[in-house]
Amino acid sequence: TPRVFSGIKPSGGLTLGNYLGAIKRFVDWQDAGTHETIYCVVDLHAITVWQEPAVLHAATREVAAGFIASGIDPVKSILFNQSQVSAHAELGWIFSCVARVGWMNRMTQFKDKAGANAEKVSLGLYAYPALMASDILLYHATHVPVGEDQKQHVELTRDIAQKFNHDYKVDFFPETAPVIEGPATRVMNLRDGTKKMSKSGESDMERINMTDDAATIAKKFKKARTDPEPLPETLDGLKDRPEAKNLVDIYAGLSGLSAEQVITEYAGAGWGKFKPALAELAVEKLGPISTEMARLMADPAEIDRILAHGADQAREIAQPILDETYRIVGMVGR
Ligand code: TYM
Repeated sequence: TPRVFSGIKPSGGLTLGNYLGAIKRFVDWQDAGTHETIYCVVDLHAITVWQEPAVLHAATREVAAGFIASGIDPVKSILFNQSQVSAHAELGWIFSCVARVGWMNRMTQFKDKAGANAEKVSLGLYAYPALMASDILLYHATHVPVGEDQKQHVELTRDIAQKFNHDYKVDFFPETAPVIEGPATRVMNLRDGTKKMSKSGESDMERINMTDDAATIAKKFKKARTDPEPLPETLDGLKDRPEAKNLVDIYAGLSGLSAEQVITEYAGAGWGKFKPALAELAVEKLGPISTEMARLMADPAEIDRILAHGADQAREIAQPILDETYRIVGMVGR
């Protein structure tokens, strides 16, 4: 069976962006049953920027709890944290030797994150896409569900696989494609519709956290920035209205409707009507998840057991692929 792989960094709490752009779709892939689904808490990626050890430790369990509470079933999917499967770091090194510096220089996320400070960021942050390629290709995964912001990294994965196959004259690593589907593949900041909602934005009012309670969710949507116009009559009317478009997309993502259906339902409605409806929907969808996350996090031993079991399963797939890679490259082994 073909494989799906995706990962989330434990570099802070989970946001509504992670849920709609990633986790909810991971669950759909799992439940479709057409692919073997492998999901990873990518802790090695998190430390590309400084993480307080105790905070990283807690965030790793929180992301795992978020996966499980949202419907990732450790019986149907493989769920693990990256550092427990050392093959990721090993293949990541080989890919660092395949990928070119010029390719890394084109990564827009690096340029955004490093900004004017490119001399001071970690070498790991720069090389990160090579490790990401190893995450995916270690399982010969072909489908990678991600949000819009990861598209360039998954495309680079394809370039790395091609160059490896070409340089070593093999047909070993498969073609990989990002899968970016649905109405909410780029959830925006609630205070600025031109910026992505992220775990690490300065103000908590910018984002919905998966652990926010009902009152907080309602307050954040109430205070969300909008323009003064009511909702348009057609989808076209959302053009050049980034904040309005974002709230419609979030509603669509949470409800399972298309953005067009949401517009039809709320054509001409004011924010005084739409925002409370959106908050109610978000509480209805996220409330049970955050309750379950809290229950899971109260029993870390259970989470740790699930991750360890997942790591055993992941290793079983990854090790033969790593061994074969070493053989192709020319390493002397057992
Ligand atoms: P990360 O941890 O930043 O985000 C995890 C997933 O959530 C998606 N996402 C969003 N989707 C929509 N709107 C948003 N505002 C939003 N914010 C985040 C991301 O696109 C991503 O799918 N490099 C990756 C992690 C990674 C990975 C991998 C992913 C490491 N190895 C292998 C796929 C395959 C990252 O930093 O995601």
